[in-house]
Amino acid sequence: MRKKVIAGNWKMNMLPNEAIAFIEELAPLVKDTENEVILCVPYIDLFYSLLTVQGTNIKIGAQNMHFEESGAYTGEVSGKMLKSIGVEYVIIGHSERRQYFAETDEIVNKKVKAAISNGLKPIICVGETLEQREEGKTSEVITKQTELALEGLTNKEVENIIIAYEPIWAIGTGKTATSEDANNSIKEIRNKISKIYGQNTAQSVIIQYGGSVKSSNAKELFEMSDIDGGLVGGASLKAEEFSKIVKYK
Ligand code: PGA
Repeated sequence: MRKKVIAGNWKMNMLPNEAIAFIEELAPLVKDTENEVILCVPYIDLFYSLLTVQGTNIKIGAQNMHFEESGAYTGEVSGKMLKSIGVEYVIIGHSERRQYFAETDEIVNKKVKAAISNGLKPIICVGETLEQREEGKTSEVITKQTELALEGLTNKEVENIIIAYEPIWAIGTGKTATSEDANNSIKEIRNKISKIYGQNTAQSVIIQYGGSVKSSNAKELFEMSDIDGGLVGGASLKAEEFSKIVKYK
């Protein structure tokens, strides 16, 4: 049985004092959950967040990283740096990074490999645009993105990653994919992994849904056969609302 993994993606929100207050409010609300709880916070909040989650079941992730370990890359942060302070997860290839920061599938693959080699768990985002969906290309786009992101990984490595299927038209728009649609897309991603890595590996990969997840739709989505939790943006900015998503049942 795969575990449900619920990750918040704060994006470019929350000052350190707000991060601390949020975690202090969230921790008692989610302490008894059997689901995995992750907060992916801005770099500036990482250290404060890591200190504040000590002794709780909340894990901390970053939202991006560079694929090189160190060097002349002004403004960048490496996987090695993230790992050194105790970060466990990192979002890679979020559609906002692909769209606004020109991240290609090749860069995503390099980052995934660098994350793994530094002992971080990547949360790899894939998803189609509205245009691609309307042209009937959803399956082609998301399976290709998955294949390219995972290129060169071993079975064992693939078994330890997380994929987030996030249809771009559903992010921050209030529009959610229907639970059937989301489940079908996630099945397609799993089938693709199965074709390359075999059924056992495909069945063990955590694949989340993301895009306007909130407490009112979390249960319906997360109870689908292939949806293993969610990557939550807007609704992860309020501790009480996020705790309801974590405890969706
Ligand atoms: P949203 O964002 O929940 O605000 O739609 C999800 C994401 O971008 O990860």
